[in-house]
Amino acid sequence: MRSDGTAVKQLFTRLVSSLGRETAIREFKWMKQALIASHAPTLPAMLLRRLSGEPLQYILGTTPFGPLDLLTRPPTLIPRPETEDWTLRLADMLTPTPLRPLSVLDLCTGTGCIPLLLCHLWPPGSTRAHGVDISQDAIRLATDNAARCNIPSFQPSSLTPYSQNVFNPVLGDLRNPDVFKHLLQPFDVITANPPYIPKREYDELPLSVKNYEDPAALLGDPPDSEEQDGLTFYHLISRLLRQKGMLRDGSIVALEVGQAQADAVEGILQQSAGLRNTQVWKDPWNVKRVVLARA
Ligand SMILES: C[S@@+](CC[C@H](N)C(=O)[O-])C[C@H]1O[C@@H](n2cnc3c(N)ncnc32)[C@H](O)[C@@H]1O
Repeated sequence: MRSDGTAVKQLFTRLVSSLGRETAIREFKWMKQALIASHAPTLPAMLLRRLSGEPLQYILGTTPFGPLDLLTRPPTLIPRPETEDWTLRLADMLTPTPLRPLSVLDLCTGTGCIPLLLCHLWPPGSTRAHGVDISQDAIRLATDNAARCNIPSFQPSSLTPYSQNVFNPVLGDLRNPDVFKHLLQPFDVITANPPYIPKREYDELPLSVKNYEDPAALLGDPPDSEEQDGLTFYHLISRLLRQKGMLRDGSIVALEVGQAQADAVEGILQQSAGLRNTQVWKDPWNVKRVVLARA
């Protein structure tokens, strides 16, 4: 058996060939820091996992999202920088106060990154957020992330005023409107980064995505769907928004979209959800990334 030092050297050399020198050096530094924080396996084990294509965020066990440092575990989707960008922008756009707390609903919540960042950034006592996801793994992770961010959970049935912002992770399918009846309706803000990748594009994704992240978090058209354009979830969400009691006058809806989907999603929100007041936000890479609507 080679000593740890020799094995690390050899594995690091292979990582340089695989990722390029600069990236390999940066990632190696983060792996060593994770070791010091003692929530990670040994250095050779981390290097081997990285060489086999596992995303760095799963190996390190955390990823930054704005000022938060969120837990990441397969198969729950790793939060992406474009989602971080528009969530920060949305947080800047609104100024809730504890006098009239906002009820937030995040559909397809995954790690809980979107509602947890809003809860973190908005004034204490101003925000009551729900995060709904169909995946047990995601809801467990969102619950762990809320604890990590010191954001307590709450009971929607309780009318107690909260001095902190609070978060309610909910296991549920957005196709079932009954899920929402027990939450704090109407919602002032509804956010979603739903699965939106068309099947033909999914097939082309790198193995580092397909082998580790839940296909149900990525594929825009579930297997039983007739659509092929990745837009099934936007139709489902628009149908949900039409339900009585979901929105009030002035409520904000923010939906992340995939490449070249913004115009179609804007049309769906206008025609199917009846939301006429819409706009599109670009991400830092100049891609139309979010469709925003005001009720
Ligand atoms: C693209 S991921 C987004 C995760 C997180 N919001 C983010 O931005 O990183 C989509 C999420 O939708 C969830 N999902 C898929 N189908 C769903 C459904 N029918 N109802 C609720 N959630 C669903 C998946 O489990 C996954 O966590």
